[in-house]
Amino acid sequence: MSSSDIDSILIEDRQFEPPAAFAAAARVDEKALAALHRAAQKDHTGFWAALAQTELDWETPFTQTLDDSHPPHYRWFHDGRLNVSWNCLDRHLTMDGDKTAILFEGEKGDTRRLTYAELHRETCRFANVLKQLGVVKGDRVIIYMPMVPEAVIAMQACARIGAIHSVVFGGFSANALKDRIEDAGAKVVVTADGGHRAGKIIALKAAADSAIEHSAVKPEHVVVLKRTGEAIPMHAGRDLWWHDAVAGVSDDCEPVWVEAEHPLYILYTSGSTGKPKGIQHSSAGYLLGTVTTMKWVFDLRPDDIFWCTADVGWVTGHSYVAYGPLAAGGTVVMYEGAPTVPDAGRFWAICQRHGVTVFYTAPTAIRALMKFGDEIPARYDLSRLRLLGTVGEPINPEAWMWYHRVIGKERCPIVDTWWQTETGVHMIAPIPGAVATKPGSCTIPLPGIDADIVDEHGNPVTQSDKGGYLVIKKPWPSMLRTVWGDDQRYLDTYWSKFDNRYYVAGDSARRDEDGYYWIMGRIDDVLNVSGHRLGTMEVESALVAHHRVAEAAVVGRPDAIKGEGIFAYVVLKGERPTLGSEQKLTEELRAWVAEQIGAIAKPDEIRYSDNLPKTRSGKIMRRLLRTIARGEEITQDTSTLENEGILGQLRGKE
Ligand code: WT7
Repeated sequence: MSSSDIDSILIEDRQFEPPAAFAAAARVDEKALAALHRAAQKDHTGFWAALAQTELDWETPFTQTLDDSHPPHYRWFHDGRLNVSWNCLDRHLTMDGDKTAILFEGEKGDTRRLTYAELHRETCRFANVLKQLGVVKGDRVIIYMPMVPEAVIAMQACARIGAIHSVVFGGFSANALKDRIEDAGAKVVVTADGGHRAGKIIALKAAADSAIEHSAVKPEHVVVLKRTGEAIPMHAGRDLWWHDAVAGVSDDCEPVWVEAEHPLYILYTSGSTGKPKGIQHSSAGYLLGTVTTMKWVFDLRPDDIFWCTADVGWVTGHSYVAYGPLAAGGTVVMYEGAPTVPDAGRFWAICQRHGVTVFYTAPTAIRALMKFGDEIPARYDLSRLRLLGTVGEPINPEAWMWYHRVIGKERCPIVDTWWQTETGVHMIAPIPGAVATKPGSCTIPLPGIDADIVDEHGNPVTQSDKGGYLVIKKPWPSMLRTVWGDDQRYLDTYWSKFDNRYYVAGDSARRDEDGYYWIMGRIDDVLNVSGHRLGTMEVESALVAHHRVAEAAVVGRPDAIKGEGIFAYVVLKGERPTLGSEQKLTEELRAWVAEQIGAIAKPDEIRYSDNLPKTRSGKIMRRLLRTIARGEEITQDTSTLENEGILGQLRGKE
């Protein structure tokens, strides 16, 4: 059966029961799941309190589970104290220090294995280095690294001494890094000379130098990991090599016990304004979410080899590379490079080589690899795989079926996990031994997660064919605590819509007759490009920062691989280029946006017009622009347009 056949035979209500063999051995079966749901419904805080006691190691036990005296600010386990790195590393040493913690593979094929004992030693050493550099509890450390074990070591080292890390994705530009250094007020930056990606070298240190040069906040030190060996300048007094810094440093480092609510990290994500927001996560509540979901959703067992393909620069890489798998005592695979190097079989080669049993990736990657056909995965032994997962956007049924058939050999359940940077961990996802799956649905909320779909007035939507706002009605331990340095934005973005009663996710969704959730998309001006969030305003601000651009409007357009592509309408300060002569300027603007934000934000297409379509009140008619970008027929009322003549220009016809 070819992949094009799948589409036509697909019916929406196709359902896949948990495979019997899987269910029989699963951590959570149907009965156990029903018991978890009952316990959470009966006593929401008691349910989480019991898990916090059994799943985490506390230095000082908590006596109050939830402080909800100042909604929507919630504190979980707040009078307890613990250390996240202790929970991820030390507590496993007594059981089995020789167990593999990290299996690493570089893009060029180099591999490394770190046991728990080794990872513990390296983390302690680097924590001592940070201390020597003057980093104390509460200081911010920016981590701008390739996907190598040292990225996790740096994160764990921060956690060990109570420093707050903010990982910046290595694909972000110097300018984006500068904004984050400033907003976080970073004391130290940890980076590398470079990383390998898609056969190229990503010059991280050069970008860090440029970011710091232009930054109003000047980090005191830059620690540089030697990864590529390229010659790079080092600034005397400020920069030091990782290998020099750790040489001779003690591998003994007492953890700093922190309050449960102490911020573990800040991670920047896009919203509907031009400025990314620093999502602030807690220590204990966040960690609890990562361990419980590793066990419930990924059914993690001691002998599993778990691979989440996300970069540590995204929340997925935080929860399911750097923290969750380690907190649960698992073995995690890390891969530095691109999925198509040396060819589109790389993911499957890694699965075979390391014996991956649980594999977690994004629909965009599945679609991209599916394009190369079934023959490539067929060359590899994927028989150890037992569970597959997806995250980042709704997965189209065709890609789901391919994943199920060609990768999972119809044997592995697929967990489609809905969550966000803000939620910290999975919120709506199937528990693989207990919940039947439907291609394209993230199924039902996890125990202890009180999700709902509500209308404009906050009333539950009950019809199965109607969409509404996806909300969470009760606080949960791994939720964001605030927006770093901008609590008002926390209130405005997530809570004000329904008077602080519900957390508003920013997604619309519908629920079918079985209570299954189907995510429909964002309700705000946020794009989902290859499973990554980008604000339309962010791209617009980048465009208007160019000297030739007067005004810009950015919309999304469906894209077969990326999910959503970026389409920009631009009004220039001077003459509009004549039709057919825009190419040079378009390339210049695309490169400009990559420089301002990063390559992922490059518009796929740019169209020039004399002005933008606006309503009488001056609002840009985005819906009209989206219609045009999709090449669909215009059904909107265009009579309010100042100049109907621009329609031709917007369509690229004049
Ligand atoms: C947004 C969050 C959470 C890690 C990756 C992205 C979309 C995420 C799914 C899914 C449908 C999904 C939502 C959400 N999304 N997972 N399984 N099905 N949509 O994190 O950058 O914070 O983006 O991604 O729109 O709000 P993020």
